[in-house]
Amino acid sequence: MLFPADIPNRLMRLDQIRPHRVHYAKVDGNPYVIIKIDGALKVFSAVCPHALGDLSYGSVVDGQIDCPSHGWRFSLQDGLCQWPSETKQTLKFLETTEIEGWLCLA
Ligand code: FES
Repeated sequence: MLFPADIPNRLMRLDQIRPHRVHYAKVDGNPYVIIKIDGALKVFSAVCPHALGDLSYGSVVDGQIDCPSHGWRFSLQDGLCQWPSETKQTLKFLETTEIEGWLCLA
């Protein structure tokens, strides 16, 4: 059994993830958002691809996360920007793994 500090790329405990809630974690100084939606875990950078807003303060509405800075909305299914629709910006979902009950970046 590993001590939590020895688990690499540790985000948060899996049993603390609540559906449709925005969770925040840092790994190596980089901020990440963790969201469980429709049974799937989505992990992505908390830095908005529009203008570096903090998506960890966003809200989940209708399967999308709204950025609090300028209101851009990204699908939590494929990461595509839904509003404004003319942009091609996307969220990049990251691979994760589970280690001893912890969600970790793969
Ligand atoms: S920084 Fe996120 S919408 Fe502008």
